[in-house]
Amino acid sequence: MARKVIIAGNWKMNKTATEAKVLVEELKAKVKDITSVEIVVCPPFTSIDAAVKAAAGSNVKVGAQNIHWAENGAFTGEISAQMLKDAGVEYVIIGHSERRQYFGETDETVNKRLKAALAAGLKPIVCIGELLDEREGGHTQKVLFTQLEGGLSGITGEQMEGIVIAYEPVWAIGTGKTATPEMAEETHCYIRQQLGDMFGQEVAGKIRIQYGGSMKADNAASLVAQKNIDGGLIGGASLKADSFADLIRNSIK
Ligand code: PGA
Repeated sequence: MARKVIIAGNWKMNKTATEAKVLVEELKAKVKDITSVEIVVCPPFTSIDAAVKAAAGSNVKVGAQNIHWAENGAFTGEISAQMLKDAGVEYVIIGHSERRQYFGETDETVNKRLKAALAAGLKPIVCIGELLDEREGGHTQKVLFTQLEGGLSGITGEQMEGIVIAYEPVWAIGTGKTATPEMAEETHCYIRQQLGDMFGQEVAGKIRIQYGGSMKADNAASLVAQKNIDGGLIGGASLKADSFADLIRNSIK
């Protein structure tokens, strides 16, 4: 079975609830005829409710950008998986490189959040990716292997089929530097091989692997055309309905 392309917009710390409503309403009008691409927007927590309401009944789904692993309790400032589920959230980004870089996220905490998301019935998008010096030092595969091994520890093959992996070379995020489609495909191919070793070829063949890092309307088609690239996690280009809708349309295989 072919893997359905998934395009997710990671709004990061952008868009108030008022702005989120406008953006989702504009977006859903522009993409309403598209059925072959799964479309997700991931607003900040305070804009989730507005996005869920604006997206209701459309083909636009809503995700969150992070969760805490505990069910509830004394964790000031944190949001649980159950809170997101109750708010109408379907997807959750876990282990984004900005969380790793600025907020102390590790493969171990990625794994805890992943298990909490799955337990609550949220669909996780697990981010992995190497830094520039790691790529230049020839360590990309080793870094990705460690992130997959640690982040996905204890996950079953059945659970894995519902998990999306986002490969985001950190040097390409927000920099305008995209990996070439060939370079990205080579890495996606490696990731799928590793998933095959961990979970078996059949499961690995079903897992969707997104590319992320300066993906835009004009480079989406060539990236998604690659055999092992099943969509994208989009930052900057997801903040305007026009550019995001064009990107989604260009990602139809
Ligand atoms: P970008 O961000 O598209 O702005 O490079 C991608 C991401 O961080 O998910």
